[in-house]
Amino acid sequence: MQTLIDRLFQGERLTQKEFQALVLCEDQGALELLFQRAKERTEEVFGNHVYIRGLIEISSYCKQDCFYCGLRCSNKKAQRYRLSPEVILATCEQGYEMGFRTFVLQGGEDDFYTDEQMCDLIREICLSCPGSAVTLSFGEKSRRSYEAFRKAGASRYLLRHETATAEHFSRLHPPGQRLDSRMEALSALKELGFQVGAGFMVGSPFQTAEHLAADLYFLQEFRPHMVGIGPFIPHTDTPFGKYAAGDSQQTVKMIAITRGILPGALIPATTALATLSQGSRLQALQAGANVVMPNLSPNEVRVKYNLYNNKLSTGTESAQMLEALRNELAGCGRKMDLSRGDSPLWKA
Ligand code: 5AD
Repeated sequence: MQTLIDRLFQGERLTQKEFQALVLCEDQGALELLFQRAKERTEEVFGNHVYIRGLIEISSYCKQDCFYCGLRCSNKKAQRYRLSPEVILATCEQGYEMGFRTFVLQGGEDDFYTDEQMCDLIREICLSCPGSAVTLSFGEKSRRSYEAFRKAGASRYLLRHETATAEHFSRLHPPGQRLDSRMEALSALKELGFQVGAGFMVGSPFQTAEHLAADLYFLQEFRPHMVGIGPFIPHTDTPFGKYAAGDSQQTVKMIAITRGILPGALIPATTALATLSQGSRLQALQAGANVVMPNLSPNEVRVKYNLYNNKLSTGTESAQMLEALRNELAGCGRKMDLSRGDSPLWKA
């Protein structure tokens, strides 16, 4: 196992079978080595900085019907809302005052706002919050839409692939959604010059070690700039409401391996991980993660953006607790960094 970890951190390409061996590894000594290497590699590339992104959940409407997600269109119990462009802009401006220089606009796949309205909003954010990065996370859109967003000034796009195995993808989504089109969207985003975020859930229903190995192999080949990895957490009002949650240790392991594959990647310690346990979020930050995304959404809508049960939306998840976050990070030797924090692999 040690040889495999050595090879991973020497930048060697691994086969899917080799990734699978890492995924299945339970040897405590080997895992400690893996986490240590991931921590060192993160420090070599980024120093002790942890990048902070302001997350704004702009719409809880979604036309998709993913079996795992509380925002799925079939969930009639979901509380739906949309933030107006004025409120989104004002939220960015408040964040800017606090020092944020990245705004992540995330929403369900909601066609309510036209591309033109979205582009106007992106331009306004860029004007009102100079020097900031606008990150979008609106799911699958046409290449034309992506191109318009890019031209309007958005520079990053988050679109998790969810699972790199077509057969598994089709067990997590209804027939209309296909892994092929997800992969095409990711390629289009890259070609258009976005910093692109891929990623997957750990412990989603029907997932095997082979699937996780395929996810890691995909990251090695596609080389995204950002990778979001979080545990699956059931949401009661979905078809997967009775499935077990993913394991936080396994999630941290996936983050550490990902750091080996992509030394320059921006990898968040996700809200889903923090929801399972605050401790594992810190553990992730000590094993390869280097991003935290506090929620800037207006308080009254936070409970409505309900992807999974008990989603963390208080404490350090609220921007008001930025100081607490700074202290928490300082407590484990990390420096809170509010700057844009572009990927070192990206040229504007
Ligand atoms: N548990 C964990 N993560 C989830 N997501 C959606 N539903 C859940 C869930 N039940 C993740 C998906 C999506 C991201 C925005 O949130 O990976 O891409």
